[in-house]
Amino acid sequence: MLFDLHPKETRSELFGRDSELDFIRRQVTAGNWVVISGQRGIGKTSLIKVALRELEGDGFKVVYVNLRGVNSLKGLLSMLVNELSRSRVNLSLRMSLNFMIGSLGLTVRGGRRVASSLLELLLSIGDRTIIGLDEVQELSRVSGQFLKILGNVFSSNPRVTFMFTGSYIGLTKVLLNPGPDSPLYGRPPVEVKLRPFNSDESREFLRRGFEEVGMSFSRYDEVIDKVDGVVGWLTLFGNYHAIRGLSFEDALRATVEEGGRIMVNELKHFLEDKANKALYVAIIQALRVANRWGDLKAAVSAMLGEEVGDREFTNALNALVNYNFVEKRGKGEYTVTDPLLRQINLTPLLRRVRFQ
Ligand SMILES: Nc1ncnc2c1ncn2[C@@H]1O[C@H](COP(=O)(O)OP(=O)(O)OP(=O)(O)O)[C@@H](O)[C@H]1O
Ligand SMILES: [Mg+2]
Repeated sequence: MLFDLHPKETRSELFGRDSELDFIRRQVTAGNWVVISGQRGIGKTSLIKVALRELEGDGFKVVYVNLRGVNSLKGLLSMLVNELSRSRVNLSLRMSLNFMIGSLGLTVRGGRRVASSLLELLLSIGDRTIIGLDEVQELSRVSGQFLKILGNVFSSNPRVTFMFTGSYIGLTKVLLNPGPDSPLYGRPPVEVKLRPFNSDESREFLRRGFEEVGMSFSRYDEVIDKVDGVVGWLTLFGNYHAIRGLSFEDALRATVEEGGRIMVNELKHFLEDKANKALYVAIIQALRVANRWGDLKAAVSAMLGEEVGDREFTNALNALVNYNFVEKRGKGEYTVTDPLLRQINLTPLLRRVRFQ
């Protein structure tokens, strides 16, 4: 059912995305690694899950790991041990110093270096296996060690293929554009960038969703106007209206509120390690009234009550672009990427972070 909020698991539950699925399948079969990128709620988890399931049908062993909240190699190692065992992947670890194979199955020996255990585990994989890591940006803090392991696996164990998803750039960008000193230099994964549906696709998505539950519906434009073609927000609206039975107005309001809350949390997560939090918030807020670099900088300075330096302003703006909160459209115009974040008044947040 299209308006089911869980990530979709099979191609028949998925609206569109056939060309992306076929593309991924060809890439993986040819030995390429894949990164599925795109903003929050755009359908990355659904796509990676369906792709893995289809590749399993093609004879690969597949493993799925959701990294949300897992920001250490140790966390990754323990999840991989569990999932590889569960998928009955053949591992040649009999004489290992890092692992024990006992009545409880495979366990990690204490006191060993995590990076070397992880590498040994990945190199021991004997079946053609695809490892799907959802939300790989969570490993950004350990990206140096992680990339080294990946580089090593790429060159030493061709049976293993990685598939990643990432909503915000960080590590995702490093994976896609490995510099000459990166272990993945010369072998970047292929990117599948998920974009919002256009307005015809969004209409068709809603039409089919309402048809599935036998409900008549015609106010497409009002919904698309608010939430654009972001499939996660369209699904949320459909769920509120068609499944939970909220009135049209209440469902749309609830969607905007709930989606907005998710986006503000995402922004707070991004701000956690930033020194000048107010500057970032002011930029997003100022994008409600200005779009070009000069106007935007003037609006931000006015909002903060002090002139912001060119370099500092550009760096902050670029960081927001890199993390997908803001995008640069043609002719040097900037906009807030997510339709719901675009509509939120961030004044209270700005006030809160200003004097932190
Ligand atoms: N192609 C699709 N057809 C139908 N529903 C979809 C499709 N893609 C995603 N959805 C629905 O949209 C919502 C968001 O999807 P999903 O969780 O896969 O996105 P995501 O990009 O991983 O989001 P997040 O950034 O929050 O992790 C879910 O409710 C899912 O069921
Ligand atoms: Mg996801």
